[in-house]
This record gives sequence, C-alpha cells and structure tokens, in this order.
Amino acid sequence: MSENGTGTAENEIENMNLEDNHDKPSENVDVDNNLDDVVNPWNVSSSSAKGVDYDKLIKRFGSSKIDDVLIARIEKLTGKPAHHLLRRGIFFSHREMHHILDLYEKKKPFYLYTGRGPSSTAMHMGHLIPFLFTKWLQETFDVPLVIQLTDDEKYLWKDLQAEEAKQLALENAKDIIAIGFDINKTFIFSDFNYIGQSPAFYMNMVKTQKLVTFNQVKGIFGFGDSDCIGKISFPAIQASPSFSSSFPQIFNNRKDVPCLIPCAIDQDPYFRMTRDVAPRMGYQKPALIHSTFFPALQGAQTKMSASDPNSSIFLTDTNKQIKTKVNKYAFSGGGDTVEEHKEKGGNCDVDVSYQYLTFFLEDDDRLAQIKKDYSSGELLTGYLKKELVEILQKIVGDHQQRRKNVTDEVAYSYMKPRKLDFNY
Ligand code: TRP
Repeated sequence: MSENGTGTAENEIENMNLEDNHDKPSENVDVDNNLDDVVNPWNVSSSSAKGVDYDKLIKRFGSSKIDDVLIARIEKLTGKPAHHLLRRGIFFSHREMHHILDLYEKKKPFYLYTGRGPSSTAMHMGHLIPFLFTKWLQETFDVPLVIQLTDDEKYLWKDLQAEEAKQLALENAKDIIAIGFDINKTFIFSDFNYIGQSPAFYMNMVKTQKLVTFNQVKGIFGFGDSDCIGKISFPAIQASPSFSSSFPQIFNNRKDVPCLIPCAIDQDPYFRMTRDVAPRMGYQKPALIHSTFFPALQGAQTKMSASDPNSSIFLTDTNKQIKTKVNKYAFSGGGDTVEEHKEKGGNCDVDVSYQYLTFFLEDDDRLAQIKKDYSSGELLTGYLKKELVEILQKIVGDHQQRRKNVTDEVAYSYMKPRKLDFNY
C-alpha cells in the first residue's frame, strides 16, 4: 500500500504482497523456504507427493487459516452443518470471513463473486469444486451471485481466436448453469459481452488501472517486458466485479455492498491487488474464501490440465471412460503387492482415489471407515477405485442430464444484464 506516497517502487511491491499482515500475528514471513511450491494463476506445482504445503502458503500470502472457531460460527449463524468441503479443509484459507459473518448476523447485505477462464469446452471435476461450494454459499446465505467468464483473459493468454473464446464462454456458462444456480439470483457474464455495455464496469477498470503501477503487476504476477499490454492491464478486469458499483442494475447503483469471493488459492494474487486498491477507490475490500487444488489423477504434485484428457475426469466423460481413467491412472498409495499392502497398509495422503473421495463422498462416517480400513491394509486400492467410479459416474451422469436442458436461450437469460431478486 503506498498510502504514505513515499515508498520506492520496490517497497510498493513488497508492501502489496504483505498487504494483509496487519491481521496476522506473525510478521516475519519467511518467503524463501517455500520455493518448491509454485502457486500463481498460471502455474501450480509442488515437488512433494503430498502436493502444495498449504500452511506455508497461508503464511506466504498473508491470509488466515479456516479454523474450528470459524466453522463453528458459520454453523451457529446459519443453523446448519458446514459444507463437507469446509469441514474437510478443502476450503482452508480466507480473508475477512468474520467480517462477512458480522454482516450476515446484522442482516446486512453482501454478494458473491466467482469466475472461470473458459479455455476449453470440457470442464473437469476440479472446475466444479468452487462452483459447488459457491452454490452452497448462495443457498445458505441467500445472496446475489455474479460469475465472470474471462474469455478475454483466455484470448490474451492462449492460442485462441477472440470469437472462439467467446463461444467457449457460452458453452462453459451452460455447464455452470447445469450445476443448478437460481436464475433469479445469479448473473453470469462474459467479459467480451458485458464490459462494452457497462460504463460503470469500465470506469472501475480504469480507476483500478490508474492505481496500480507496472512495477506492481510485475511483482505480483511476474509479467515481463515482452508480455503484451493486454496481459498487463488484465488484472483490472478481474478486480472490477469485486465492486458492487460495477453492476448498477443489480445493486441499484450502490457502491457499498461488500463482496465475498470463493476461489481456488491460485487466484489470490488478483485479489491481493484488488484489496490494495479498493480503499483508495472509496470501496470496501472484497473478502475471500480459498480452496486447495483438486489433484490430477496422476498425483497431487500438479493441478489438472484441461489439455491433457488423461489427467482428469471431464463432465463430458462416459461411464466407461470414467472407469478406465480411474483404474488406469489414479495414483495409488497402496502397497506394490497384496502382501505388502496387507502388511503396511495404504497411504491416504498420496492416494488419489482417497483424495477424490474426500471431495465427493459426502457421508463422513463412511469416509472415516474407508480411511481406517485402507490405512490398515484391510481394504485394497481396487475397492477404493470401485467406490470412486460409482460416485463419479453418478455425479457426471446427473450433470449431463441437466446440461441437456440448458439451451442457448437459457444461457442468454442468465447472461442478460438485469435486476435480480433482491432490493437495495
Ligand atoms: N482467472 C480465472 C481463471 O482463469 C477466472 C476468474 C475470473 C475467477 N474472476 C474470478 C476465478 C473470480 C475465481 C474468482 O479461471
């Protein structure tokens, strides 16, 4: 934060990265011993079989851990059990969730904002996670939701034509709609479509651009001198939906409705930047709730890639493909032979089938039993895989059924700028 106006460019970058440290007890964040884990919007990798060290990441990013106190407070205020993705630490980090809960307690409004970069027609199970959780948040807190489809971002970063990217946004919108968002409470927009029609959104973009220097985006995102200027200014586009004034049709021109952003932790750099500029624009900082990454079938070292069909289960996969992929590619934490497995037991920390069950098997007791029996060696990997295949086939099959009914017209109706079912 350059409020004092005297910092050199170097200092600004440093301060920006540590932006939230005022609410952290530990001031001396040791950045250097985390060099093995790479986590940024374009790259996620770890050299450990267990994947990214998320506790270290919380320190490095200066966010807060989701602890039992926060979960208990959510349960108390909403009168229902926390979502299993919260209970199991998959949503593990946050910024200012207590502030959002304070608002909810006082019956004051807030809204949700999330998004997706439409890089391919087929979404995979990992893409589903933030949206499933967002749906739960929306239903639990009964708040408006805006979903940004960054077709412009994908156009800038990938080898895609602009029209193609826009088409992918429409196709992805259909998958997102099929998850079951309430049309009266949800606005989905593609950047190529919406921004040109919204002077208010554009103005927030430019205000953001004025407040962030080239040095700062270099520091936060690693941009270099030969990156096109589209990339360099893109963060302002992802920042703008965090401000209610970007959606005058929804918020009746109110500038002060606070925002909560559920996202995977790799998107945090965008919102560290947003939180830094917000007060200088006269806005509130968005709150955040972050998830871990959904592991690739091959193991937790990497995030899945939509361009490698064997790294993941896609929402378009057939039952047979699901079965084959899980059996063939899901990394096993079991012993090399049945004898060894029975003697030493399986390792749930690295077993991808077990990891996937933690995301999708809702029954806590059953999951605990599986963990116990697999770790002791009683259950073999084949059993875990069979259980997982059935669960995935059901989720994907049901999704495909709902997706069929989402026509272009249905998608356009979610994407039309309009008032939602809330009064401001
Ligand atoms: N940049 C994100 C991606 O590539 C898309 C996105 C835009 C997003 N706005 C967001 C994700 C807000 C989470 C929250 O997937």
